[in-house]
Amino acid sequence: MMASHGNLFIFASFLFIDSLFVLHLSSFSSGEKCKLQSPPSATPLTGLLPCTFYNKGFANIWASDHQTISDDQYHVTIKLDASSGTGFKTKTTYVYGFFNAAIKLPANEYTAGVITTFYTSNAEIYPDTHDEIDFEFLGRIPGEEYILQTNVYANGSTNTGREQRLRLWFDPTADFHDYSILWTSQHIVLYIDDIPIREFPNLVGQKVGAVYPGKQMYLYATIWDGSDWATDGGKYRANFTYAPFVASYSNFIVNGCALPQPSSTQPPVCAAEFKSNKAIFPPQLSAQQHQSIQWVQQNYMTYDYCQDKNRYPNPLPDCTYTTPPKPHSDIEDEL
Ligand SMILES: *[C@@H]1O[C@H](CO)[C@@H](O)[C@H](O)[C@H]1NC(C)=O
Ligand SMILES: *[C@@H]1O[C@H](CO)[C@@H](O)[C@H](O)[C@H]1NC(C)=O
Repeated sequence: MMASHGNLFIFASFLFIDSLFVLHLSSFSSGEKCKLQSPPSATPLTGLLPCTFYNKGFANIWASDHQTISDDQYHVTIKLDASSGTGFKTKTTYVYGFFNAAIKLPANEYTAGVITTFYTSNAEIYPDTHDEIDFEFLGRIPGEEYILQTNVYANGSTNTGREQRLRLWFDPTADFHDYSILWTSQHIVLYIDDIPIREFPNLVGQKVGAVYPGKQMYLYATIWDGSDWATDGGKYRANFTYAPFVASYSNFIVNGCALPQPSSTQPPVCAAEFKSNKAIFPPQLSAQQHQSIQWVQQNYMTYDYCQDKNRYPNPLPDCTYTTPPKPHSDIEDEL
């Protein structure tokens, strides 16, 4: 009995000393948690594909006076101010493809409510059964960081969002960074600077209730006022005292299977060709690419629909992680 009490006492005093030590140390630290800063190395991807010039691939959707295109058709800016946002989209639709833009976000001190996007969608063609793959950059209040929200909608499930939200490991307003969407019959992969940050596998036929974007989509880039939800769920709204908000795009890659007319028939031959371009788009991610996704999710994820038990008491069929990574914000909340 005595011995075990003694051990307990020693153990407890170690804990006490230990926590003093931690407190002491932390008073010299910046308050930032120590984390791996350098991103994992990436398999080259964007550098292997030809650029798509704006006038070949895209057209303005609305408010063309809020958009500028460089003479060489390589750079585009889009602007949100009190009068309008703007956007552009591909001239045609695609079934499967690899889509990239290098984007530099508005650097204004206050960008709350401002949403800058790069995404595929077919809501114009299939309003009730639409598919969508999103990069959405959610503006910030001063001192905070931009949040990148990614999402996948499949076959009309507009109530069934599959949002993930990330902080970034760089300042997205300081430089251009490549943001890419790979969409094949096997999987969707989202990349930043060729580093995979998210994979959405096609589980149709393998898991009951699984859905997967399968119909032709346009590719879009837009900037607009999303005050109702963009920043802290709508707590901070756009403030046009800080306008204009200008996002810059370049380095477009539109490498997909073009399908000019809305069609309910089977994907055309090029969809199969795209699928068989295995050298550039292997059907599966490498072990190192899976590790990259884990690195991103463990260090930078602040929200994951697969972890949202209130919203989805039964996780969706595509929540297939064997060991779900813990969203970063939850870890912070526990400390
Ligand atoms: C998509 O949804 C429609 C309407 O709900 C349904 O008829 C169709 O079978 C679905 N297609 C796929 C591929 O899930
Ligand atoms: C917008 O920002 C300005 C400058 O910080 C501030 O004076 C004003 O109250 C803000 N407007 C709103 C509606 O928040």
